[in-house]
Amino acid sequence: EVIVVKHLEPFRLSLEKLKVVSTRLRKDMIRGLGKHTHHRAAVKMLPTFVRATPDGTEKGDFLALDLGGTNFRVLHVRVMEEEQKMVKMDSQLCAIPQEIMLGTGEQLFDHIAACLSEFLDSQNLKGQTLPMGFTFSFPCEQKEIDKSILIRWTKGFNCSGVEGEDVVKLLKEAIHRRGDYDISSVAMVNDTVGTMMSCGYRDQTCEIGMIIGTGTNACYMEEMKNVKRVEGEDGQMCINTEWGGFGDDGSLEDILTEFDKVVDRTSINPGVHTFEKMISGMYLGEIVRLVLMKLTEKKLLFKGEVSEALRTKETFETKFISMIEDGLENAKKILTELGLTWDLVDARVVRLVCETISSRSARLCAAALATIVDRIRVNRGLPHLKTTVGVDGTVYKKHPKMQPSMHFLTPDCKIKFLVSEDGSGKGAAMVTAVAQRLLSSLTQSQVYFSVLDI
Ligand code: GLC
Repeated sequence: EVIVVKHLEPFRLSLEKLKVVSTRLRKDMIRGLGKHTHHRAAVKMLPTFVRATPDGTEKGDFLALDLGGTNFRVLHVRVMEEEQKMVKMDSQLCAIPQEIMLGTGEQLFDHIAACLSEFLDSQNLKGQTLPMGFTFSFPCEQKEIDKSILIRWTKGFNCSGVEGEDVVKLLKEAIHRRGDYDISSVAMVNDTVGTMMSCGYRDQTCEIGMIIGTGTNACYMEEMKNVKRVEGEDGQMCINTEWGGFGDDGSLEDILTEFDKVVDRTSINPGVHTFEKMISGMYLGEIVRLVLMKLTEKKLLFKGEVSEALRTKETFETKFISMIEDGLENAKKILTELGLTWDLVDARVVRLVCETISSRSARLCAAALATIVDRIRVNRGLPHLKTTVGVDGTVYKKHPKMQPSMHFLTPDCKIKFLVSEDGSGKGAAMVTAVAQRLLSSLTQSQVYFSVLDI
């Protein structure tokens, strides 16, 4: 086992190293916010045009669309002021088959429009035009709240003809091609923003949203005076950091392992989303598989015998990691299913590998989150900050390991984590609801200037 530990050493990041990573991210965030530096920045720091979190007085009925993983969801959400509650009235799930994830943009949006049509029919909503929030969990250059240009696909999507295009326009065109219903205003939201906004309705100190699921990312409320790419100095704006792209300029070279490099090289988007590939669900299982392969080749596992399954890309699912960490019995079952001949030492080594990879993921996320929290503290000139982070994503939910390591990284801040339920969907409705609240409290001339820009 001592030799095994040596092979896992490159994955173990000391507190000092995490602080170095955090400092690098701090610099990259500043670069991403800058007027002249953002074009080349690895961490994009995208303005979201969301200028306020909920204050609890929002209300009304909304539609929410949610696209970000292998499913597309439509929701009908009611926000009730009296009970400060957001209720999902109903929802529908449509799978996005692999052919569509890798097909044309037209096919993707036709599929979405068809799913929406079916839902509106089932809810008898085709006559009404409810305000709509669209959670689209990919990096977008937002021009206004309803104009959002896809910068690039991530997380296994690669539909042609969508990068560089306005997603709202593509959705509307698909709906017009059908001609059986129409939609009015659409607010475009990243899933991190949706998560922050839906948690923000329950806890008004929530000003950060974080996702650790298929991909990883975070958003937070930044001071407008620091958002150099958008006119205006007053108030705040939510920034979608797209921290998944951290390291794309080579800044994380010293912590990348040979396994991370293989994962990147064999992915459908080599060279991009370096940080995400060390952390999120889409990649963790594959990192573990590559390590197990290497240890087997070195005769440190399974008596040197690799099974066909273990040799095949992506057969070691990310969910196996938390299952194996939960208990050796699970490990034994999974190893058998993967066609491996194992003994007890093998099962223990596999568990150690899983723990190492998931704990690196948690520690890197903790370092990145610490950077954001401390930035908010410094922005406000406070010696101490108490804040709440809305969190979502299966990897986080299965690995709540990250919280203990936070304290060492942000000694001046106290962080509360609020796990979001259905955040990315409901949150889009909440963005729309906050927009309406702001609108109804503005004078006519203000409305004129801010109608597209909440
Ligand atoms: C990817 C996307 C980002 C999203 C994250 C979590 O990193 O680029 O927009 O928030 O995944 O779903």
